[in-house]
Amino acid sequence: MERMLSGIKPSGQLTLGNYIGALRNFVKYQDDYEMIVFIANLHCITVYQDPKELRKNLKDAVALYLACGLDPEKAIIFLQSDVMEHAQLGHILCCNTYMGELNRMTQYKDKASKGETGLTAGFYVYPTLMAADILIYDADYVPVGEDQKQHVELARDIANRFNNRYSETFRVPEPVVQKVGARIMSLSDPNKKMSKSDHGDKGCIYLLDDLNVARKKVMSAVTDSIGMINFDPVNQPGISNLIQIMASLNGESIEKVVEKYKDCGYGEFKKAVADVVCDTLSKIQERYHEIINSNELEKVLEEGAKKASYLAHKKLLKVQRKVGLDIFKK
Ligand code: AMP
Ligand code: TRP
Repeated sequence: MERMLSGIKPSGQLTLGNYIGALRNFVKYQDDYEMIVFIANLHCITVYQDPKELRKNLKDAVALYLACGLDPEKAIIFLQSDVMEHAQLGHILCCNTYMGELNRMTQYKDKASKGETGLTAGFYVYPTLMAADILIYDADYVPVGEDQKQHVELARDIANRFNNRYSETFRVPEPVVQKVGARIMSLSDPNKKMSKSDHGDKGCIYLLDDLNVARKKVMSAVTDSIGMINFDPVNQPGISNLIQIMASLNGESIEKVVEKYKDCGYGEFKKAVADVVCDTLSKIQERYHEIINSNELEKVLEEGAKKASYLAHKKLLKVQRKVGLDIFKK
């Protein structure tokens, strides 16, 4: 069976964007692939996190993974820092990556060009740690949102470079970016991505939002004065975003949603979108509350880390050998 791997960085509460762009797909894929998913906690701390808040977000994220339908019988689910080999391979890959490549990473470039000060070295090299996350398991496919595609491409470049330098070692992974829902936009500014860093923003729906709050956010989503339900992200970004949310959650095509609602006013359409969103959230939240205080989470992470460590350790030893770090064969 081919292997698929992905991670989410819960540096805040998980959002509807995370669900549509990432989590939901992991659940779909777990039947067809050998699935590995992890909570990328080492990536979180590239920006300072309050330890108490971080711990809560990590725990919520594991519970939400499970609540969204990831099944530990089918997928390996673990906390990144529980598998030490990630960071170690990260360093080796960092030594096989050029600063020019990291300078070109959009996330870094955007922040640096805005003159942001206080960017950490960890933030700068994070794409190499992400490459390690992927390559250490020889993943065939990496499902990600649009914004993460560039990092998977860097992982491919690093894998090819390493294979050429040291002989065939890593599988070269393919990014998988879905067509519908790859980029859910903010409800209050549909030209901006819906993001968990928008603290307290009306534009972002959190998976654990109170249902009334979520409904209000959808109902007050920014639209336009055209008054027609069209999928036209350039001229009607707000409405197009709502169409996309509806299509993703219902599993319908964009065309089908437009056809169904084309004679509706915006208010009526928003209400329909809010119903679908609340229905999705309520199912997730129900399961979340069942497991958040049970011992299930600890068991899942322990089991997951065991399985992942076995694979990662074997691979790291191989890499160390190829690079010439070991003296005696282990
Ligand atoms: P992040 O929240 O940026 O750590 O992203 C975690 C995963 O969710 C990545 O695969 C992202 O591409 C995806 N994701 C995050 N926000 C969105 C969004 N607004 N629309 C679609 N996918 C998203
Ligand atoms: N960098 C990803 C994000 O910000 C999370 C992530 C870390 C990841 N390692 C990964 C995603 C490996 C896919 C594969 O969302």
